[in-house]
Amino acid sequence: MAIREILQIPHPVLRQKARKVRALNDDVLRLAYDMVDTMRDANGVGLAANQVGELWRVIVIQLPDEEEARIYVNPEIIIREGERRVEEGCLSIAGYKGIVTRSVWIRFRAMDHTSNVVKLKAEDVLSQALEHEVDHLNGILYTDHMEAHEKLVKVEPEGENAEDSEDGEDNHNGHSDGTPHMSHNSESGLWLPEEDSRNTPATTKLK
Ligand code: NI
Repeated sequence: MAIREILQIPHPVLRQKARKVRALNDDVLRLAYDMVDTMRDANGVGLAANQVGELWRVIVIQLPDEEEARIYVNPEIIIREGERRVEEGCLSIAGYKGIVTRSVWIRFRAMDHTSNVVKLKAEDVLSQALEHEVDHLNGILYTDHMEAHEKLVKVEPEGENAEDSEDGEDNHNGHSDGTPHMSHNSESGLWLPEEDSRNTPATTKLK
């Protein structure tokens, strides 16, 4: 297994639609396990194949309070119910978070890593993570769900240097801070100057 590079916006693969997996072969499983390693290394809650440059419908999720990662192939959201406002981040938009509207609960279906069909009702962080990751497979980023007047905010105010976040001491494994965000890269320093996010609608700037 291997840790892969997580693509950052505006990489075009993040805007492409991933293809359905026809057979759960070794290549797909290797991709999925690499994605688990990559997600854990980045302290993320979820990762979609687009984010490591592979256009297959594969997502992985590991909730902060769960020991095992979930591997979902060809995931589908069958039903969405309700609306709620939640804070969200993304490993491909490192260093930022925003407020988006997500469902209160969803019904979800996918194939797991043993080719079993999984059907579940999800709420809270799991529901949010599933919606976020399935969006990725369709080329959608959470910033697309932000209202025009809303801005991305930096996760931490003091960091201003881009590019050097990967070596930070906070880029550890595990979820000890317990934050329910999609991105746990919350101490990284990939900021833009604050004026930028004030003057430019985030959705325009980040596409
Ligand atoms: Ni994401």
